[in-house]
Amino acid sequence: MPSTTNPPKAAEPNFQNRTLYHGDNLPFLRGMNTGTVHLIATDPPFNKNKDFHATPDSLSAGAKFEDRWRWDKDVQPDWLDQLHDDWPKTLSLINAVRESVGEDIAAYMCWLGVRLMEMHRVLRDDGSLYLHIDHTAHAYVKALMDTIFGRENFRNEIVWCYTGPGSPKMRQFNRKHDSLLWYSKGAKWTFNMDAVRVPYKDGKPHTGGFKHVSGPKVGKNMDAETAASYNKGKVPEDWWEGIAIASRGKQNTGYPTQKPLELYERIIKASSNRREFVLDPFCGCATTPVAAERQERLWVGMDLWDGAHEIVLNRCRAERTLHVDLSEIKRVETPPRQTDDAKTAAPILVLKLQVPEPGKKVPNAEMKRLLVQSYGNMCYGCGREFDAPDYLDLGHNTPRSQGGLNHISNRILVCGPCNRLMSDTLTVKGVRRELRNNPHTHGFGPDAQSVLRRLPF
Ligand SMILES: C[S@@+](CC[C@H](N)C(=O)[O-])C[C@H]1O[C@@H](n2cnc3c(N)ncnc32)[C@H](O)[C@@H]1O
Repeated sequence: MPSTTNPPKAAEPNFQNRTLYHGDNLPFLRGMNTGTVHLIATDPPFNKNKDFHATPDSLSAGAKFEDRWRWDKDVQPDWLDQLHDDWPKTLSLINAVRESVGEDIAAYMCWLGVRLMEMHRVLRDDGSLYLHIDHTAHAYVKALMDTIFGRENFRNEIVWCYTGPGSPKMRQFNRKHDSLLWYSKGAKWTFNMDAVRVPYKDGKPHTGGFKHVSGPKVGKNMDAETAASYNKGKVPEDWWEGIAIASRGKQNTGYPTQKPLELYERIIKASSNRREFVLDPFCGCATTPVAAERQERLWVGMDLWDGAHEIVLNRCRAERTLHVDLSEIKRVETPPRQTDDAKTAAPILVLKLQVPEPGKKVPNAEMKRLLVQSYGNMCYGCGREFDAPDYLDLGHNTPRSQGGLNHISNRILVCGPCNRLMSDTLTVKGVRRELRNNPHTHGFGPDAQSVLRRLPF
């Protein structure tokens, strides 16, 4: 069989700055080139088991999102296949939680897990992800992220403290903090400590000869050098307070769960540099995109809410100091097409054939010829060999509905029954699982199991 000879390509973004993807983020994430994003700062639903609604008459009026998960309704079989084959430890964790804690939280972990796998893939090797979460799912999400990013890549848990009215009926302490779990993708990461320094407690500048009232050497006289370092301020602790959105403030859009710009600006300043890409796949009323604009970063946002594009335009227009050409902020509904070597978070097929140039249009007949040349007249689903290629159709490995490409790296040959079984929802692994579990339903004899086990990939 011919082997792949294309040299590995440098990671090139296949998405534009100032893009707001509207819809479920999974296909968008799956379509993004690997290793292209410097920072992901995101705030997904927390599994609060309730629906959120925007304040009536606010800028976000009418916005709502559901924050509840059920195993039978929300977990797709191909996610389990993907986890089973490529992130088995993550699946073991989810299964353990499902058995011992509850199905809703396990379903949420599964839903978030497949998205985190893609986020991990699209990050550059020196990139970072900050995930915003609260007490409801914190422990489970931390463990989930440890299986995907590695415990050694856990950098900080930032505790964002806030105040607000409590509920005396609860007979417990008021829950008034969220956590931001920061993971780096690898052993190198950006941390711009000078960009995020804050004043020591007394907040006053010093010229030397003064007594320290806070910070290092409290009570001692400061020399000029210490005074200079003192005046630079300190790197903040991992608990942040005093950052909030005033309820009548300019920043408040009325979007439920809106987060303060200052919070996301601090993250962006600390963990990315000017003109680098910041991604928020759950961007809500566009806090991360606006914070990125303020800090002169490039950005991509995604959200199910169809008002997200409008609100990012409104918010950028209202920011006097930003001079953004609003026509550059695009709303996009089609997933990007991977133009690298189409590695997915779950590489299903290891291609053994010479892949035509990414982006080059290859006619279907030619794709079929190349696949037959590499693998013979075999169905990728059930593994049966046919006498002639006429019995095989050209299918998609990752379904089109989930952002799968038309590129040959995502094309497979499948027989009629397997093609119907896939019907744009199952991956090839989903088909094999279904055949293994229910061979008779699909007209396969008891030998299906051993045929499937013998498949060469
Ligand atoms: C907690 S809110 C984010 C709020 C945001 N940080 C802000 O300041 O406005 C979570 C967001 O995730 C979005 N969302 C939920 N499921 C999604 C999905 N599958 N794809 C894209 N967005 C989703 C919701 O519409 C909601 O806007």
